[in-house]
Amino acid sequence: MDGNSFSDNAVPLDLLRERAFNLRWAQQPADVIPLTAADPDFPVCQAIQDSLIRYVREGVLSYAPPEGLPNFRQAIADWMRTTRQVECTPAEVFATDSAASAMAVIARGSLDAGDEVLIPDPVDFLFQHTITRAGGVPVQIGAGATTSAEGFIAAMQSRLTPRTRMVWLCNPHNPLGVVHSREWLKTVAEWAITQRLRLLSDEIWSDIVYAPHQFTSLASISPEIAINTVTVVGFSKNFGLAGLRVGAVLCSNPQWRRQIVVASDAESTVFGVSVLSQVAVIAALRDGQPWLKEFVRHLQTQRNYVLERLSQWPGVTVFPPQGTYVVFPYVRSLGNDAERLCEHLLARARVALVPGAPRWFGPGASGHVRICFATSRRILQEAFDRMDSVVKELVEEKQRD
Ligand SMILES: Cc1ncc(COP(=O)(O)O)c(C=O)c1O
Repeated sequence: MDGNSFSDNAVPLDLLRERAFNLRWAQQPADVIPLTAADPDFPVCQAIQDSLIRYVREGVLSYAPPEGLPNFRQAIADWMRTTRQVECTPAEVFATDSAASAMAVIARGSLDAGDEVLIPDPVDFLFQHTITRAGGVPVQIGAGATTSAEGFIAAMQSRLTPRTRMVWLCNPHNPLGVVHSREWLKTVAEWAITQRLRLLSDEIWSDIVYAPHQFTSLASISPEIAINTVTVVGFSKNFGLAGLRVGAVLCSNPQWRRQIVVASDAESTVFGVSVLSQVAVIAALRDGQPWLKEFVRHLQTQRNYVLERLSQWPGVTVFPPQGTYVVFPYVRSLGNDAERLCEHLLARARVALVPGAPRWFGPGASGHVRICFATSRRILQEAFDRMDSVVKELVEEKQRD
């Protein structure tokens, strides 16, 4: 176990400023704190580093099989069986170069042009993006953090058409931070199956869950749900491997799985996951669990700290995240436009957040901002100290108007 992996001094700021892109340190002026893309500020665990070094030193870096290294597929199947009670065999696992890419190949392998997919609104932009890029039509179903299964189903029911093919779920949910209960998932999935719809469950956040909440993998609920579900897993959030672009698709329906593999173009070698990325995942799943446990413990204290700081912003309301390391406060009391609020915070506090804009999360995100807290306490505290003064100014400006 790495000692003090999440202390203030564990954040390698110089390296992040050089290497952390996607709205983060390397893409911001030097004085800006980016609480933007959901990507941790901490180095990956020692087990991953050692395993990559060993593999590279051995010097053989040949092609991997198109569906993934046997050890990679085995490691994922074991992980799904032992930690998520999903009856998964290595043959059901297909390696993809990221969770984003898993969603893209599933969309391409499951949808014809014009097919409709029911997705929650808000949700991560990849939902609408990958469906649209595959020629499908995302149909946004308004859902807040406390929407019941019955409420969600009623909203879906009203949007059903002869072209509706799938329901895509995000659990734990980015950006709402909800961890769906087993009962919620079962009710929604059983309704979908009666409507002859298939399901996608994006479970990239499934390791980041705060007690007493518990994660349920959709495919673990019943064999009928499993055969109608394709699961997306990823390693950017739990183990900080975003730059290695690695994830996987799990599908127990051989015919459906085959369609997805064909759609991926991995068999032609046009696409395929780097062996080093797979080696990193094997090490993470085999030896990274103590590090992950400590990471979640750190995140839980960060989450509590963010909630306490946000409670001091007048009129701002927030759903306490049950999972993920993002928080999604409703900030309309500070101004009508979340994009403008983010511009103010960037200009005056030098802190970057993600606005609840339709392009990031759908129209249901309006009035919110997303704050990522996977950093050190010192950085988070500094960011809130800086934002507090701007929030105070905004409130005073509003009172004067
Ligand atoms: C819900 C969700 N799905 C997928 C992804 C993409 O992950 P990856 O880096 O593996 O492409 C993200 C990343 O933010 C996410 O939040």
